[in-house]
Amino acid sequence: MASEPAPISFARGAPSLDIVDVDGLRAAADRAFQNDPAGTTAYGTSIGYVPLRTWIAEQHGVAPEQVIVTNGSMQADAFLFEALVEDGDTVVVEKPTYDRTLLSLRSRGADVRPVDLHEDGIDVAGVEALIADGVMPRLAHLIPNFQNPAGYTLSGDKRRALVALAAEHGITIFEDDPYVQLRFSGEPLPTMLSLDQADRVVYASSFSKTVCPGIRVGYLVGPEKLIARIAKLATNTYISPNMVAQSIVNEFVRADGGGAFERSVARVKDALQERAAALCAALARELPEARFVAPQGGYFLWVELPEGTDGDALFAAAAERGVQIVKGTDFLLEGGENAFRLAYSGVTVPQIEEGVARLADAVRSLGVAA
Ligand SMILES: Cc1ncc(COP(=O)(O)O)c(C=O)c1O
Repeated sequence: MASEPAPISFARGAPSLDIVDVDGLRAAADRAFQNDPAGTTAYGTSIGYVPLRTWIAEQHGVAPEQVIVTNGSMQADAFLFEALVEDGDTVVVEKPTYDRTLLSLRSRGADVRPVDLHEDGIDVAGVEALIADGVMPRLAHLIPNFQNPAGYTLSGDKRRALVALAAEHGITIFEDDPYVQLRFSGEPLPTMLSLDQADRVVYASSFSKTVCPGIRVGYLVGPEKLIARIAKLATNTYISPNMVAQSIVNEFVRADGGGAFERSVARVKDALQERAAALCAALARELPEARFVAPQGGYFLWVELPEGTDGDALFAAAAERGVQIVKGTDFLLEGGENAFRLAYSGVTVPQIEEGVARLADAVRSLGVAA
C-alpha cells in the first residue's frame, strides 16, 4: 500500500513552534511569579492585569481607563458585540472577512452587510452607497492590516475617509488589528484609533501573533464609558481574565526595556517574509493562473482561480494529497467558490514548496488548466 503523504497545513492562522520564543516565555513566567506573586496568582479584576493594561495604554497613547485586557481578542470581540450589537442592527464587514466574525455577528442576529474588499482595503464608496440607500450601520468591522483572509492592507487615505464617515454618521468602527506588528515590507500606517477625534473607533489587538496564541491575551481600546460598560459584562462573565497569562505577557514585553520583545517579533517577521516570498514564487511557478496579491505582512494569502473552479472539489482533492486549505466560501455569505485562503505562518519553506506542488496537482485533477 502506498504511504500517505505527510500532512501540510495551510489552514491554521497560527505560528509554527520554531517562531515561538519558548525560552523567553519560560523566563518571563519565572519572573512573573518572582516579581509579583500576589498579583499573578490573585483573581484581580475584569480590566485585566494592571501593569500590562498600563503598558498597552502607553503603546497607544491613551489613558489606562480606555483599555481592557481579555482572554484573547476573540473574547474582546464577543464583549464588544454584546455591548453594541442588537438583533437586527446593521453591521458592515469586509467581503471576504474573518470567518469567526461572520459567525459571531450572525449568531447575534445582526444584519450583516459585506462590502467589497480591494487591495487597498474596503470599498469606501460601497459603504457610502449603503448609507445613501438609508441603511445606517451601527458598526463597521474592519481588519486594517494584512487582512484575514485576504492579506490586504487598508490605505492611509481610506483610513482617514472612514474615520471621517464614522464621525459624520455616528458609526462605530471596530478596528480589529491583531497583525499590525507583523509588517515585513512597506511603511507602517496610522491606526484609525489614532486618527479618531470623535470617539468613534474601538480598537482590538492581541498577543497571539507576537507572543503565542496559547497564552490567550488580547485587548480592547476605546472610549472610557464603553470600556467601563464592557468591564461590567466581563465581571459578570468571568470575574477576571487569566492573570497568570497576562502577568507573563507583561514580563515578556517589558524585558530588557522592550528590546527582547522587539527581537522576538523581528524573528517572527523575518520568518513570515521568507515564507510569503516562497509561497508567492511557488504559486507563480506551479499555478500560473492563480491570482493573488503579495502581502506586506501578516499570515495570509488569498488565492483566486478562474471562475467556475469547484472549491469543494478542490478542497477534497487537496486533502487527498495531504494538503489543508480553507475554502473561500467560509469567509463570505455568498460566492467565493473559486477562492481559498493559504496561511503561511505555520509551514516551513520546504513544506510550502511541496504543499504548492501538491495543490497544483489537485487543481489539475479537476481539469482546470495549470
Ligand atoms: C482578524 C482577527 N481577529 C481576531 C482574531 C482572534 O485572535 P485571538 O487569538 O487574540 O483571540 C484573529 C485570529 O486569527 C483574527 O485573524
